[in-house]
Amino acid sequence: MTLSPPPVATAPARHGIDVGRLSRLITRERAAYAAERPRSAALAEEARAHWHDGVPLHWMTDWGLPFPLFVAEAHGSTLIDVDGHTHVDFCLGDTGSMFGHAPAPVVAAIEAQAKRGMTAMMPSALVPEVGRLLAARFGLPFWQITMTASDANRSVIRWARAATGRPNILIFDGAYHGAVDDTHVRLKDGAPILRPGLMGQVWDLREHTRVVPFNDLAAVEAALADGTVALVLTEPVMTNIGMVQPAPGFLEGLRRLTRAAGTLLAHDETHTISSGPGGYTRLHGLEPDFFVLGKPIAGGLPAAVWGFTEAVAKAMTAAREATPGYSGMGTTLTANALAIAAMRANLTEVMTDAAYAHMIALADRLAAALEAVVARRRLPWVVTSVGARVEFMLSPTRPANGGEAALIGDAEIEGALRLALIRRGVVITPFHNMMLIAPTTTRADVDRLVDAVDAILGEVVA
Ligand SMILES: Cc1ncc(COP(=O)(O)O)c(C=O)c1O
Repeated sequence: MTLSPPPVATAPARHGIDVGRLSRLITRERAAYAAERPRSAALAEEARAHWHDGVPLHWMTDWGLPFPLFVAEAHGSTLIDVDGHTHVDFCLGDTGSMFGHAPAPVVAAIEAQAKRGMTAMMPSALVPEVGRLLAARFGLPFWQITMTASDANRSVIRWARAATGRPNILIFDGAYHGAVDDTHVRLKDGAPILRPGLMGQVWDLREHTRVVPFNDLAAVEAALADGTVALVLTEPVMTNIGMVQPAPGFLEGLRRLTRAAGTLLAHDETHTISSGPGGYTRLHGLEPDFFVLGKPIAGGLPAAVWGFTEAVAKAMTAAREATPGYSGMGTTLTANALAIAAMRANLTEVMTDAAYAHMIALADRLAAALEAVVARRRLPWVVTSVGARVEFMLSPTRPANGGEAALIGDAEIEGALRLALIRRGVVITPFHNMMLIAPTTTRADVDRLVDAVDAILGEVVA
């Protein structure tokens, strides 16, 4: 497979982009961004006094903007900044708001529940119904809740170890499953390494985490062979290192190999829920032991769910009975009444079949239109998608695994596009050019994005 070469700072063109024109565009757009946003600039300055890096979460500086865009309000696919600029939002909180900002049924449910109590560390009356909804939609009989997808994955890893009595897990190179220490292992030249950049990490995570390339069943088989692997944790489509699609038969082979090895299999569908109402798993009739879904499950309110089979439930119960005392899992605010109410509204009124039909049709339109722009501009780029989630990659070929995907990308070009798009009233995600279609996205929104991309590229193509 041929991959695009890594960026070379002095080359006149990279990935089909003229470096000189790009640099002029960046200078102009940064100045204009700053001039047009005096209120955001002032808030950024003020916030520096008491927030480390000037923001309450350091990721908020990852947009590569001169200073953060402070949000006044967001509804549906519209995001309005504190300076009054209106944007069409295709980032949607990097999936947390993928069903649109502040969906009315969720807002109403939160409002009604808030007046009746928010958190009691006791189940609310809606709990049985939400359990039924999750089981019916995702096809697994038993469920638990956490606050975030990271928490859900941590729980799945711990419970899988407890249920199987095995110490190790297996992940795929380039995977991201949240702020979960066990998963921060990568491959370099075929050998496991700690993910570069980890801070404050003192354990050798490689001791209990194995890592192999995605789409490599022989490597999976070898890694499971000694019978010490409790769990394989994977996204059905890798979405966190650009997008890596499963090769035909890979996920089925993974299921076969994990079953043969007595290893549990978890599908983390936090991003691939873009595939359809039951995620990629249901769409393709797959049968994992665990199913994880965070981010959008409660319509934007922090909550995540993880489901599991009856056999896993039995093994969990046996492990619990054999190990009385503090489990080391769970957090106080988890499964609070507000999250349960929001989840019920989201599952019944927002995350509907009709919503998905709209989202996926528009995403297909967006992908086709972007492909046409890339072809017309003769750019060596590809467009990839999984349901309502669309990305473009600065590579002429699609990667087969995380190692290949990691070689793709160009922070300067991608950052410049993002900035120039924001100035044209369109927001895309600061990670690997990701665009989500919400039930509230319109054809006009998609056309506006495509036209803006085309216009910006028109200025900088080599
Ligand atoms: C597949 C996957 N799992 C888990 C997470 C973690 O989600 P959170 O940051 O909400 O805990 C992410 C975040 O991007 C993700 O992409």
